[in-house]
Amino acid sequence: MDPIHHLPLLAVLLSILTFSVSLTSAYDPNMLQDICVADLQSELRLNGFACLPMENVTADHFHSDSLAMAGDTDNKFGSKVTAAAVTVFPGLNTLGVSMARIDYAAGGLNPPHTHPRATELIYVTKGSLVVGFITTDDMLFEKFIKIGDMFVFPRGLVHFQWNNGTTEASVMSAFDSQFPGTQKIGNSLFASSPEINNAILAKSFHTKVQVIADIKKEFM
Ligand SMILES: *[C@@H]1O[C@H](CO)[C@@H](O)[C@H](O)[C@H]1NC(C)=O
Ligand SMILES: *[C@@H]1O[C@H](CO)[C@@H](O)[C@H](O)[C@H]1NC(C)=O
Repeated sequence: MDPIHHLPLLAVLLSILTFSVSLTSAYDPNMLQDICVADLQSELRLNGFACLPMENVTADHFHSDSLAMAGDTDNKFGSKVTAAAVTVFPGLNTLGVSMARIDYAAGGLNPPHTHPRATELIYVTKGSLVVGFITTDDMLFEKFIKIGDMFVFPRGLVHFQWNNGTTEASVMSAFDSQFPGTQKIGNSLFASSPEINNAILAKSFHTKVQVIADIKKEFM
């Protein structure tokens, strides 16, 4: 048969392949233009943010000093995440990267959380930390790291950083997403809105409803 007759079949196979590839790759989408500075005021709803008109774009859109200052760690956890994602740094729109800095008081903890859309690579700029992540089959990979060290938390896995030292600590974080998203395990379960039924949580944690109520009070 003439190879030309196979073309419709080929096209169908290709589109199925393309579709399944797009289902299995969870990365930020590829860029379709050089730049697309986020227009954070736009009413347009799409996967990402609408582009500012080119004539409105300036070099300032590609600059941010939002990580220059240490975050205020005077809170229950003794840690502060300062994010430089697309929502505060519009030039990152469609580029598939962002950063954050995390500051820790002595004893400070960045409690267990996940980033559903990004792998996170941290670089310690001050002090030392106990860091770790847990795989989907409940294996803990934990390490004590210090200034100058890096550690990577694979996409979507639950992880934490704990400053068990007696001085402040700080890290710079890089993400392979313009908007990694953060789901804090404690807040999700004990401070959701509306709240999760205590009976559900009590059964989940093999404990009593009153224990759950007590934990919830701490998150209010
Ligand atoms: C772009 O700049 C023009 C002229 O300064 C202004 O009228 C318009 O509101 C700007 N558009 C956006 C989306 O910022
Ligand atoms: C912090 O934990 C690490 C790992 O368990 C340990 O080696 C280190 O001595 C601890 N630091 C302090 C100040 O206790």
